[in-house]
Amino acid sequence: MKSVVILISGRGSNMRSIVEAGLGANVRAVISNRPDAGGLAYAREHGIATAVVDHTQHPDRAAFDHALAQEIDRHAPDLLVLAGFMRILTPGFVEHYAGRMINIHPSLLPAFTGLHTHRRAIEAGCRIAGVTVHFVTGELDGGPIIAQTAVPVLAGDDETTLAARVLAQEHLLYPRVVRWFLEERLTLQHGRAVLRDEATPAAGALTAPGADD
Ligand code: GRF
Repeated sequence: MKSVVILISGRGSNMRSIVEAGLGANVRAVISNRPDAGGLAYAREHGIATAVVDHTQHPDRAAFDHALAQEIDRHAPDLLVLAGFMRILTPGFVEHYAGRMINIHPSLLPAFTGLHTHRRAIEAGCRIAGVTVHFVTGELDGGPIIAQTAVPVLAGDDETTLAARVLAQEHLLYPRVVRWFLEERLTLQHGRAVLRDEATPAAGALTAPGADD
C-alpha cells in the first residue's frame, strides 16, 4: 500500500480531512515542528505514529531540515504532504522530495503567495478566492499547480468568514489530490502536474492541469 507522511504546525484540520476521507491507513506518521500542535493529539487518538522535530532545538535551517528528513525517511513515504506546515524549506530538502511533496495554500495561486491571503484578497476587491494544491519546488508557494477550487467573496466578508468558506473546500480538495497520487494517477512531468483520467471538472469549481479528457 502506498504511504504518506503528513507535516503539520498547528490544528491539523487538513490532516484530519485526509484521515476522515478513509486514507488513515496510508498515513505512516504525522510530524510537527511544534510540540503544541493541536493536530498531534488527533493523530495519536487515531493510532497514527507522531513525532516532533522542534525547529527551536536546531541551530539553523539546514540542521533542522536534516533532522526532519531523517524522521520522515524512517517511514519511507511515497508522498510527503504539507498541511499547514509553517516552515521555509532548504533547497536540499526540496530536492530530496522533488515530485513527491505537495502543499495546500489558501488562495488561487499564483495570486497571494505567503501569509494573510484572505485579508489581502478582500483588500484587493477580489470577487473570487479559493484554494490551491501544488507540488513543492524551491519557490515559495510557486510549484506546479495540481488542482484548485474557487469560492465567491461575498459582500460583508471578513478574513474569518472567507477563511471558513475556503477551508471547507480545502477539506474536500486535499484528500482528493492525495488519493490521485496514491492511485498513481498524479505525477510531476517536466515541471507540470499531470493527472490521468480526470472527469471534466464542474464549471467554476475545479481545474486539474494535464487531465487527458
Ligand atoms: C490552511 O488554511 C492551509 O491552507 C494553510 O494553513 C492552514 C492550515 O490549517 N497552509 P490546518 O492546520 O490544516 O487546520
